[in-house]
Amino acid sequence: MTEHIKIERKDGILTLTFARPDKKNALTNAMYGVLADSLVAAETDPAARVIVLRGEGDMFTSGNDVGEFAAIASGAVQGERNVSRFLRALVQSTRPLVAAVQGRGVGIGTTMLLHCDFIVLADNAQLSTPFINLALVPEAASTLLMPMRIGYARAYEMFALGEAMDAKTALNLGIANRVVSLDRLHAEAADVAARLAKLPAGSLAATKRLMRNPAVLTAQIAAESEHFAQRLTTAEAREAFTAFAERRPPDFMKVA
Ligand code: COA
Repeated sequence: MTEHIKIERKDGILTLTFARPDKKNALTNAMYGVLADSLVAAETDPAARVIVLRGEGDMFTSGNDVGEFAAIASGAVQGERNVSRFLRALVQSTRPLVAAVQGRGVGIGTTMLLHCDFIVLADNAQLSTPFINLALVPEAASTLLMPMRIGYARAYEMFALGEAMDAKTALNLGIANRVVSLDRLHAEAADVAARLAKLPAGSLAATKRLMRNPAVLTAQIAAESEHFAQRLTTAEAREAFTAFAERRPPDFMKVA
């Protein structure tokens, strides 16, 4: 368990809140564990008809905890990580997943949105996937889903340059369903979730299965994970993590 994920159940809606605002909701192994368990349990919980993902504080999430990346890279942590269970649970979830995003969604904070079914963005939302900036590769089947969603050219640019996409652009490109003012964000997501909760759950689940193919997504995640694990051990990644810890830009040109 971790106090960094808040879980609320009400009126058929399960709300999972990233609650580590002092670290910009950076996701730790413990947090992924609770998220994975909650998504899996929701599959057989008739009271969890819809799932809402949201973040406390000024941003959705700054992505994977970079300190934990560094710990894996140095060999200090080994074995299967809960992020893998979380991604599996996301891919296999048949429940409607609603995301409410304010401020930044970095890394997995953006790629998890590609697995969500209804995305509400605050007008200050900024989505970015700076995996290459960290000398890694994109994950969560985003190497398949992002080009499918926004086209190869934009997806490549987003991955390679790591720049943030604003809310309006994300709406126009079909990443999101709605953009609302920040003060309306959680109310809007709650309204959408309430509407979805009243629909026939079996029909929603079957439609989602027809629209998303878990086998294809799982295979893509496996291919990405192999590269990701290898990349973590490189000198380029060491430079990226050291630079983050030292609050300076990385210098990849000095890495042989
Ligand atoms: N992992 C670990 N710690 C993180 C983090 C992350 N992904 N994102 C933020 N933090 C920590 C910071 O180190 C800082 O900790 P400190 O107060 O102990 O120094 C605290 O959260 C606040 O972050 P700060 O950078 O001061 O906030 P900001 O508003 O200026 O910038 C971000 C926010 C998200 C732009 C910036 O923190 C950032 O770039 N984080 C890394 C994002 C990233 O690369 N994620 C992985 C993607 S694959």
